[in-house]
Amino acid sequence: MKIPLCKTNINTKESRAIEKVLKSGWLTDGPMNAKFEEAFAKYIGVKRALTLNSCTAALQLAMEASGITGEIILPSFTFVASANAAVKAGATPVFADIEYDTCNIDPIDIARKITPRTQAIMVVHYAGQACSMGKITKLAALHKLKIIEDSAETIGGTYKKQKTGSFSIGCFSFFPTKNITTGEGGMLTTNDRALADKIKTLAGHGITKNTYDRQYGQDPWFREASYAGYNFRMSGILAAIGIEQLKKLDAMNARRREHAAYLNKKLKFDEIDLPVELKECRHVYQMYTIKVKKVARRDFVLGLRKKGIMASVHFTPPVHLQQYYARKYKRLIHNLPVTERVANSIATLPMYPGLTKKELDYMINSVGKVLRSLKRRTV
Ligand SMILES: Cc1ncc(COP(=O)(O)O)c(C=O)c1O
Repeated sequence: MKIPLCKTNINTKESRAIEKVLKSGWLTDGPMNAKFEEAFAKYIGVKRALTLNSCTAALQLAMEASGITGEIILPSFTFVASANAAVKAGATPVFADIEYDTCNIDPIDIARKITPRTQAIMVVHYAGQACSMGKITKLAALHKLKIIEDSAETIGGTYKKQKTGSFSIGCFSFFPTKNITTGEGGMLTTNDRALADKIKTLAGHGITKNTYDRQYGQDPWFREASYAGYNFRMSGILAAIGIEQLKKLDAMNARRREHAAYLNKKLKFDEIDLPVELKECRHVYQMYTIKVKKVARRDFVLGLRKKGIMASVHFTPPVHLQQYYARKYKRLIHNLPVTERVANSIATLPMYPGLTKKELDYMINSVGKVLRSLKRRTV
């Protein structure tokens, strides 16, 4: 049996939506984007949502438009894009440790790492579960810090019934492994309308009027930049896919939760720690990650892959041990014991809405077989 790490859920609805855009003649940022943005803002519970070409672009623009040029505290246990975006926005990344159970940033270590130079906290809602937003928002208010939410891995997850991405500035990814996909793509969410206007302008070369409004407004040839911006726009073709994907999101997340509950019930082995869902949170399992103990993680992952289960690792090495960061920010990197422990033991099992009971059972049996064979080798 072959079980990929993830599988998208794309059908004729998306194909028809793409065709409609192709036939409309307007392929870039335009009416489809506006429709996707409106639906996404409503879903998250914020005033504005902006389509962008990636979550990385959303993160960079969130920091740049907020004027974060000092220190920003973020986890090292994340995909490197979180830190790269901070660097590209002109900020200095300072890494905080994570909590073992959730793999999310530890508010106690955030507090330890605040200095007079700290301007912001970037939370990364890991694998589908929100960070401890109660403690973090209190800390941010106390020290007058901005919050940026890297919600690439959590679309539809909640903390005390509030959706991630609605606590401050939310940044989402529509990469094919995420809860919904547009192939490539991202979204930024905020309640700050002025900030949203600035970000939309920055994403379109710094020109205040976007291409569509110019084309159908007065003097379409007049293009005036108010910032040195970028081209971080999302095409209308991708926005059309996003609209269809968003309609299915809750149903797909419900399936992920069912699969996770089944795995949690059946994967009872001393050699692994299962994911932990906090009572304040609704986890949407963008990934199903476990921690491997007593046996070598690499052998465990390779053993599963040999059986056709495309297990993987998210994430190793942690960002602070990656060449660029280890060299450039050495002075600022200290004390990340939980991050290093988790990065050395974490493993990702396949997770997507379309998994069948047969596939889940095959995964469960295979995990048992691989663990037994590795245990025999160690005794
Ligand atoms: C935590 C995190 N941040 C940022 C990103 C980057 O997203 P994108 O590929 O849309 O730029 C990812 C995607 O893998 C991610 O997992």
